[in-house]
Amino acid sequence: MSSPVRYELIGDIGVMSINNPPVNVLSHPVRQGIQDACREAQADSSKAVVIICDGRTFVAGADIKEFGQPPKKPFLPDLLNEIEASSKPMIAAIHGSALGGGFELCLASHYRCAVATAKVGLPEVKLGLLPGAGGTQRVPRLTGITAALELISSGNPISATSAETLGIVDRIVDGDLREGALAYARELIDRGAACRRSSELPAPDANPASCAEFRQQLEKRARGQIAPQRIVDCVEAASTLPFPEGLQFEREAFLSLMTGPQSAGLRHVFFAERDAARVSGIDKTSPQRDIKSVAVIGAGTMGGGIAMNFANAGLPVKLLEVSDDALGRGLEIIVRNYAGGVKRGKMTQDEAIARRDLIQGTTDYAALADVDLVVEAVYENLSLKQDIFERLDDVCKPGAILATNTSYQDVNRIAAVTRRPQDVIGLHFFSPAHIMKLLEVVRAAETADDVLATCISLAKKIGKIPVVAGVCYGFIGNRMLQKYAREAQLCLLEGATPETIDTAMQQWGMAMGPMRVFDLAGLDIGYKARQGLSPEERGDPRAYRIPDALVEMGRLGQKSGAGFYTYDPDTRAYTFDDVSKSVIERAAASLGVERREVDASEIVDRLIYALINEGINIVEEGIAQRPSDVDVVYVYGYGFPAHRGGPMHYADATGLDRVLERICEFRERFGAENWTPAPLLEQLVKEKRSLDSFVVKGA
Ligand code: 3HC
Repeated sequence: MSSPVRYELIGDIGVMSINNPPVNVLSHPVRQGIQDACREAQADSSKAVVIICDGRTFVAGADIKEFGQPPKKPFLPDLLNEIEASSKPMIAAIHGSALGGGFELCLASHYRCAVATAKVGLPEVKLGLLPGAGGTQRVPRLTGITAALELISSGNPISATSAETLGIVDRIVDGDLREGALAYARELIDRGAACRRSSELPAPDANPASCAEFRQQLEKRARGQIAPQRIVDCVEAASTLPFPEGLQFEREAFLSLMTGPQSAGLRHVFFAERDAARVSGIDKTSPQRDIKSVAVIGAGTMGGGIAMNFANAGLPVKLLEVSDDALGRGLEIIVRNYAGGVKRGKMTQDEAIARRDLIQGTTDYAALADVDLVVEAVYENLSLKQDIFERLDDVCKPGAILATNTSYQDVNRIAAVTRRPQDVIGLHFFSPAHIMKLLEVVRAAETADDVLATCISLAKKIGKIPVVAGVCYGFIGNRMLQKYAREAQLCLLEGATPETIDTAMQQWGMAMGPMRVFDLAGLDIGYKARQGLSPEERGDPRAYRIPDALVEMGRLGQKSGAGFYTYDPDTRAYTFDDVSKSVIERAAASLGVERREVDASEIVDRLIYALINEGINIVEEGIAQRPSDVDVVYVYGYGFPAHRGGPMHYADATGLDRVLERICEFRERFGAENWTPAPLLEQLVKEKRSLDSFVVKGA
């Protein structure tokens, strides 16, 4: 097999070209090829060596797929030391992204040049890791401790020009990179430039105050995550240990993170996110419809947020409301949201104006005649949605995609009122719609393949992570949420407080506790939705006794100043008050529930195992295409801790036998009605298999 690394001599300059598509990761043959090329260069007549990549990017990092496999020599840190030890100047020439091990390869090189559009960074923290090939030791020697901490603990790539300012890129190349890099090499040879080794730079000044500040910040920003704290340890070690010992310290920390559960969870999410966009029978070559303009029906919080997504991607949007008043209110919120974006530095004032101008209000359905996609985002009421789809069927041009943003309703029944059910699909955005990354793409019985393919690529275009779901009540996310919420409400009845529940779940890693989530979403939303449901769809009636009582006394959640908690109107600080307490106690008494202490571990297990059990049912029914899609939904739509990999990965990591055992224990204690183990869970335990090994039929 030919090597993915070519080495050639151009005059007295050696050129090492890496070609390992799609993103030139440092798989074993690449490391071997780099070592061979480096050794050849030491022995030939070259006076300097350029390291450059073919394809769309410089090296994007170590090959994550190799993690957990038996390691093969040359190991990356040793290889990079060998590059740095070269007796001839090594020059990294960067385009696309130089990330992780890829950027560490640049740092071990003696000089770094880049095109202005390039990005560099050390994103390992996003995989629960730290740079394991010298990054934590070389960067601080080049930039000082604080800038190194910022770069490595955020994991965010920076532009080549910012990197130049920081001193980790030496030269920005205009025009062709290869030519520019060769010219740079020529210049270095001509001036007899030395091999400038970052490991030989003086250790950076210690900065205990900065390290302490980062530790504290990261405890909040990356609650429960180990890697960010270890990054601070390693960067700090750059100032206290000699380079070889610092490298060893970093290596040990890297290996312990790599073999730990948090990185396994985050690596799982990395691949799960990419798998989610794959749909059996549909690929990049599948036909798609052209989407050049969009309409959104409903200018409420959701509709407005959805409209912003499309406008942000440069698509003109018609925003339809029933009255000028409602439209005016909706457009005002959009203006406010854009102003907030400018304030937070997400966009310039001009960009905000241009985006806002792409959104045009209307109250006339006839204005939608020419749009390519309509997203209906009115409140959850099936017959209202059906009326709207009948009208859309009348006014929209043939081939327009008609989407509903419903969270629960049966998309088949909505499609059935049109003469074009093949054009109807669910696009379930999450609130706030212009911020949340998840998009559930609901494939109805008759949705055409080209409609699905178009919506998946459109999702990516507007910066969303699409997950395909089948039709059922609540699809993937909200169907599972109902079981999670049920257990939260039952714990409350049995003796927990909103605070003990929220604290337990947040300490476990959820972005926000369920009680605060309910208050934020508005208790009236669920209340109204329940009115239109069958008793079976509503689930255990005990599970909504308390929220119903709160709504009936005007406590709708944060928006009305009180729900499970009371909110300070100025600071939004929340407290659990006596009124809420007595509502809970009265509800428990009226249901004959005996109150007791419910501890944190019971709360976590009941909520999370209810979620897992329903997730497994969803997988078995083929509502999700694969178990990892459920994980993507929960991590990107519901604040599930990414370092636990999502509910399905967490179940596998815990051991399905243990999960089943605990669910059976809950069945004994609380009854089979809420706690019947998913048949697939029982089957996999019997077969000693994991969810990860399960392939959904037809997916
Ligand atoms: N290892 C293995 N596969 C990788 C990979 C990696 N580091 N990075 C990307 N890939 C794969 C993806 O899974 C995807 O495969 P698929 O086509 O089969 O789905 C393919 O490469 C293309 O990736 P994307 O779809 O993400 O392509 P984009 O163009 O959207 O993004 C990118 C490119 C910005 C490079 C993005 O892939 C990315 O961020 N990659 C991860 C970079 C990273 O985390 N590097 C650090 C790795 S850890 C490390 O280096 C440790 C070291 O310190 C010792």
